[in-house]
Amino acid sequence: MEYVIGAMPCDGIGPEIVPVAIEVLTTALEKAKREIPSGAGGSLKFVDLAIGRPAIATHGSPVPEETLLTLESLDAWIMGPQEATSYPLEFRKALNPSGTLRKHFDLFANIRPAKSFAHFESHAIVKNTNLLIVRENTEGLYSDRNTYAGSGEFMPTPDLAITIGVFTRVRIERIAHVAFQYARQRAADGNRGRVSIVHKANVMLMTFGMFKDICYEVSEQYPDIQVDDFHIDALTSHLVRRADEFDVIVAENMFGDILSDLTGEIAGSLGNAPSINFSSRQCMAQAAHGSAPDIAGQNLANPIAIMLSGGMMLNWLGDKHQDEELKVASVLIESAISKTLERGIATRDMGGSAKTSEFAKEVLKALK
Ligand code: NAI
Ligand code: MG
Repeated sequence: MEYVIGAMPCDGIGPEIVPVAIEVLTTALEKAKREIPSGAGGSLKFVDLAIGRPAIATHGSPVPEETLLTLESLDAWIMGPQEATSYPLEFRKALNPSGTLRKHFDLFANIRPAKSFAHFESHAIVKNTNLLIVRENTEGLYSDRNTYAGSGEFMPTPDLAITIGVFTRVRIERIAHVAFQYARQRAADGNRGRVSIVHKANVMLMTFGMFKDICYEVSEQYPDIQVDDFHIDALTSHLVRRADEFDVIVAENMFGDILSDLTGEIAGSLGNAPSINFSSRQCMAQAAHGSAPDIAGQNLANPIAIMLSGGMMLNWLGDKHQDEELKVASVLIESAISKTLERGIATRDMGGSAKTSEFAKEVLKALK
């Protein structure tokens, strides 16, 4: 079996980090095959697809129709960060390329782990952080993607802007199930078996009240998992003090987005913060960070987040196709990164001096 995976470096630091991550994925799978020599697993084939600023030049659109058509036929793809805020005005749609893919393919679950590296804890704000944000990806407070057509943000007059938040039972239920299932899986690996619901139900009684209530309802189907809830403002302070006590955090779209940058830094660097976005059918690997325009083109970006995102995608594919080699490859990527950091090699955001390409070379070496 050959897994065809979309490759989209996109904007900013994307072209510096996505190709090296792809090399790491391929090398990790080769090593996994040597470790499990059954020959039963599949191989990876990456296909380049146009998206973002380069696609404006080649296809006249940041999200070309043919890219969407190809993605439709794929199980998985790896996507760099977009920088729609810098596109020429006529290409700045309500929805940016990443949001477009999430909405178009109903990639409703955004999984964002924050895990500090044992040998690089000095850079983490809270040592031993190992938590997972499960973010609802299709509605909530992000009004550019919470409607069927058009946007939930509009301006009746030049001096009046309105935005809408959308919360629906089925979408809250499905994300809550994902959170509890992850907690169960993580408990089997020695984690706490705890889901914390984040909300602002003290102010937005109906919307966040409903989010909170439905998550608690779903929790009844997981009696083995502890459940509690926090107001978003209080949770940020708890995280800075004791992120190590949290396990899985379930959040609506905007809160999950903001919290995951915070937890990324708490665990060592936003540049380490990976994520996948999935539906029941497809998976998009994508770092939690943006295009980092302040360091783009300088070989300074930390490629860990996108490497780990790719590893999460392999693990997702491994689960879907019962391919043990892909799952082993995912573990090998994390340990190769860990070994590299252990040797004191890190990019600038983590206090090191390695360039992106140097760091990637060392990770590849650790995999060989
Ligand atoms: P950002 O995440 O790009 O950057 C925030 C800070 O973190 C910067 O100082 C940056 O240098 C640093 N940083 C981010 N990733 C890093 C990495 N891998 N290694 C080292 N340092 C890293 O957030 P910002 O500046 O708000 O957004 C820049 C652009 O990216 C905007 O156009 C925004 O809309 C877009 N964006 C795209 C996302 C996506 O495609 N998923 C997510 C977030 C923002
Ligand atoms: Mg974000």
